[in-house]
Amino acid sequence: MRRRLLSVLAVATGLSLAPGQAEAIVGGTDAPAGKYPSVAKVVIADAFSCTGTLIAPQWVVTAGHCSSITGGGGVATPVRFPPAAFAVTVDGIKTDGSDGEAVVVDGVEGPTEYLGVQGYDVTLLHLEAPAKATPTPIAGKGFEALWNPNTTPPGTTEIVGFGVTTSGGDTPETLQQAQVPFVTDAACEEVYGGPSIFSPLGGFEPETQICAGFEEGGVDSCQGDSGGPMYARDAAGVLFLVGATSYGQGCADPGIPGVYARVADVTLREEFFRPLAPEGIRDAPEPAPAPVQSA
Ligand code: ARG
Repeated sequence: MRRRLLSVLAVATGLSLAPGQAEAIVGGTDAPAGKYPSVAKVVIADAFSCTGTLIAPQWVVTAGHCSSITGGGGVATPVRFPPAAFAVTVDGIKTDGSDGEAVVVDGVEGPTEYLGVQGYDVTLLHLEAPAKATPTPIAGKGFEALWNPNTTPPGTTEIVGFGVTTSGGDTPETLQQAQVPFVTDAACEEVYGGPSIFSPLGGFEPETQICAGFEEGGVDSCQGDSGGPMYARDAAGVLFLVGATSYGQGCADPGIPGVYARVADVTLREEFFRPLAPEGIRDAPEPAPAPVQSA
């Protein structure tokens, strides 16, 4: 049974997820223990690895293609691996998961739209019991300035993951961290084209995808980082989740940004995440109501 599953995986996952061909953050450095307690190591069916983020005590975000039984190659399907296929640890920095807090997945939720285009590349894993690690919520209403990719100069994001350090290279022993600037929607569409079910990578779909990377390349997410956090910080240094690693053509090549699920924008945040995991979203405090004028 498992053997059959693995061969299906090997064929179907093609470019992005062939077992054994993991890639991590390129151009990063070792993340210190405790700096990113919400980072999750996600192993699927003992066969391939992704990264994820604890957004609430009982919810981990990872990539849609990390839970789809056909993975990320060409034929996406919203049919998901069962909860028992996931081995997840949080708050660890060792790639083998040995120092993390083990948590048990008892539910797997993905947007049904994941079938239609390569956007919507997200999954929510529900945990049987609350994790002890500190979650990082999704940036909610009023925090759009933290991730708006269309500003000049561009803002910066922190990307973190357990993936490989060069395209097709080795998996590092320690969680990797790096900083990259956001790339405008227009520039990203120039690289990947518009949404298309015929493109193997699906094209760029700005409602549910956001891009980041240096024009000169050199720093990027890579295989094994999928589903992992794209964080932004507010002025006080508080972390928010704004994206989840999705795909890229190669890794860290000049002129080719990485593509992330746009988790903090309205489409995914309001249509997918909020109905299932409202506690995983932090909205800005409402401005105090204007005082009522009395005569
Ligand atoms: N699809 C990859 C994974 O499954 C992530 C690739 C990200 N690539 C990039 N160039 N940013 O781990």
